[in-house]
Amino acid sequence: MRPLIERYRNRLPVDDSTPIVSLGEGSTPLLPAPRLSKRLGADVFVKWEGANPTGSFKDRGMTVAISKALEQGAGGVICASTGNTAASAAAYAARAGLQAVVVSPAGAVASAKLAQAGALGARVVEVRGSFDQALDAARALADRGTHVLVNSLNPNRLEGQKTAAFEIVEELGGAPDALALPYGGGGNLSSYARGFSEAGAGTPRYIAAQAVERETTVASAIRIAKPAHSSEVEEAVRTSGGAVVSLSDDEILEAWRDLALYEGILCEPSSAAGLAALASAGIAPGTRVVCVVTGHGLKDPETAARLSPQPVVVDPDPDEISEAAA
Ligand code: F0G
Repeated sequence: MRPLIERYRNRLPVDDSTPIVSLGEGSTPLLPAPRLSKRLGADVFVKWEGANPTGSFKDRGMTVAISKALEQGAGGVICASTGNTAASAAAYAARAGLQAVVVSPAGAVASAKLAQAGALGARVVEVRGSFDQALDAARALADRGTHVLVNSLNPNRLEGQKTAAFEIVEELGGAPDALALPYGGGGNLSSYARGFSEAGAGTPRYIAAQAVERETTVASAIRIAKPAHSSEVEEAVRTSGGAVVSLSDDEILEAWRDLALYEGILCEPSSAAGLAALASAGIAPGTRVVCVVTGHGLKDPETAARLSPQPVVVDPDPDEISEAAA
């Protein structure tokens, strides 16, 4: 697999002196979703970002942010996170030989993500407060100069993440009619807007899918009350004729189940928000839509187990198994 920075070197802020820190990110599958397409009357594709090395789209931005931090001689990196940025920062920092500090809202992050970050050597600090408070504190600490902030406020993160738009344009031969994706802090939507603009092959309608209950949603990855990139998101949505769609937890979980049961794609709940938003976004028949599915389902095994039938226990006997499976 060609590292993302090598694939798009001339469109990223790197040069020959930049040490490339890569885990083989990017070049993720663009999967047709035939059964969901039939149900929705549109041509639906899934950009499967759970296929990235640490299981989420964050790796696209992190390869650039950590490579640049290393180039600049940083001693360590810091981020606030609902879990995926943490795991990604931990992995790329480990590979670069840098210390990673991750600050997360206590009790509000899927446990597998914290285990992932910890196992990859990050110093995980839980704060008694929200994601927004964790971010304010991480920024303040980064301002002291000891650690580079690798949240999406770091411009190198957005640069890396814009490459997903390049991949979609290359594969479809142009921009899709609509692009639907979860809206947490809005960094990812801003990155796609930049990517499609730079690719110069058309602009999709941006459908930003947010939780109604931003602070408490089951979609823990997007538990963010104050989106850092709200003005860029509003601008991209307005100029593209798109929409910001607010979703209940039930709507998000229904889409999560549909992706698993109709298309064999197990994502974490927040990642299904884009698909959930299509129902109310006014998608015209025959429209070509890309849903960005941002993170792997194994990131949140508690939710998957809670919402799925429990295994049946029987003796190792064909008749008993057959009866239990009926
Ligand atoms: N999907 C997943 C799986 C995420 O982890 C996030 C954000 C988003 C969507 C929303 O992306 O913030 O760019 O609008 N996760 C961050 C984190 C906040 O700390 O991992 P956004």
